[in-house]
Amino acid sequence: MTSSEAHGGFRRTVVRTVSAVSQRRAVQNAFFDELAESFAQRYENNRAFRDRVALFTEEARFVLDRHRLARSPRCLDLGCGPGIIAGAIANLGFEVIGVDRSEKMINVAERLAARHGPLRERLKFVRADVGEFLSSYHESFSLAVSSSVFEYLSDPQEVVAMIASRLEPGGTLAFSIPNFDSLLRVVEPCIQGVLPARSRYREFWGNTTGSAEYVRSAFDLGLSLERLKTFGLPNLSLYGLESVLRNRLFQTMTLLVFRRL
Ligand SMILES: C[S@@+](CC[C@H](N)C(=O)[O-])C[C@H]1O[C@@H](n2cnc3c(N)ncnc32)[C@H](O)[C@@H]1O
Repeated sequence: MTSSEAHGGFRRTVVRTVSAVSQRRAVQNAFFDELAESFAQRYENNRAFRDRVALFTEEARFVLDRHRLARSPRCLDLGCGPGIIAGAIANLGFEVIGVDRSEKMINVAERLAARHGPLRERLKFVRADVGEFLSSYHESFSLAVSSSVFEYLSDPQEVVAMIASRLEPGGTLAFSIPNFDSLLRVVEPCIQGVLPARSRYREFWGNTTGSAEYVRSAFDLGLSLERLKTFGLPNLSLYGLESVLRNRLFQTMTLLVFRRL
């Protein structure tokens, strides 16, 4: 084989890989564009969604208490969706940049942000891939949050490394991922096929990195584990079983909180 034939083969492989990646992105964006209008309503109708806001705002409060910062601290909400969590954190006094790849999610986030009145100035939304955003963003920040996003990334550990390198010393990274130990997560693949298309989110996951792997790699990135807890139950009528189901074997999500050393 001549060297130009070898180069031609390499180029074809690269082109195929790039187009497979952009196709995957387009399909994933279409899924989230479709969900955008109804996603914010889930925060009104579903307690598991309200729990998310409470968990992330609690972490934001800890950051404020710890730093007692004179200026408004900066927060990144990576994969902000309709911006409900970003808005709640801005209400606490942070300058928040919400980043999301779905155009419709960003449109909804912009529209809902208008409800925040004067606080609107503290909220900015950017339509971008989180990895690409972080590669070109060189400011530091005190808090990074990401709710139910890392499972959709193809290389979440690379994103964690980029966050760790810009997080201020003492700053916090809080993110949630599926609780892969949950029995409900174990049966989920068997029922996804019969669910309506809007609930087949697993088809768009890019990895199954679990909490143990994040914890293992964190130390080398200068992060220490602050908290790890499970939360979230499906929106079922629980017939008095709630106290049993509030157990890590059933709860569907895991929250990981790291502090920059
Ligand atoms: C399940 S939704 C969660 C939205 C929001 N964090 C929340 O909890 O309300 C996942 C969001 O991540 C976004 N997303 C997924 N992969 C992304 C990527 N690589 N870059 C930017 N946004 C991404 C999707 O567009 C979607 O809005």
